[in-house]
Amino acid sequence: MNAHLVAAVFMLVVSGIIWAATTANNPTWTGNKNVCVGECYETWKATHGGGIADIEQAKQQALAAASPAVLGEAYYGQCVACHGGRGEGGIGPPLQGQARVDIVAKLTAYRAGEKRGAQSAMMWPVAKPMTDNDIDNLAAYTAAW
Ligand code: HEC
Repeated sequence: MNAHLVAAVFMLVVSGIIWAATTANNPTWTGNKNVCVGECYETWKATHGGGIADIEQAKQQALAAASPAVLGEAYYGQCVACHGGRGEGGIGPPLQGQARVDIVAKLTAYRAGEKRGAQSAMMWPVAKPMTDNDIDNLAAYTAAW
């Protein structure tokens, strides 16, 4: 067998596989195509409380209307590693039991780059991007434990 023959046989086999696959194809199979349109989509909307855009809008509205403590809880996710899941402390001091105004004052100081304790440098980058609202929300959450 020379190289040309090997190549020819190879091409033939590959063509055969392609041919077999395409002729065995089920034309009614829709794969991952979204065929839920028209009536199907109307039904979906009715059972899901609106279309995809409506659901997203409702989600955003719920978020905007959420209480400061709920928003603070979401933000607190990035504090857990150092302050503990419920502010019991760890790498950072405990936050549990601290008054809301104190937390606001402390975070505002860190945001301004002020030195408080010996390890304030750990808090500066954390507090830097916080808005007044973020600080308020966080304090509302941590003061509620
Ligand atoms: C990398 C670890 C780390 C992360 C993450 C972190 N902190 Fe801290 N935090 C510290 C350390 C360390 C201190 C003590 C700093 C000092 O000596 O002034 C501190 C201090 C504080 C204080 C002052 C506590 C007191 O009584 O003096 C508050 C309030 C605080 N952090 C809130 C937060 C919040 C809210 C987050 C999340 C958005 C957060 N920290 C994320 C390490 C961290």
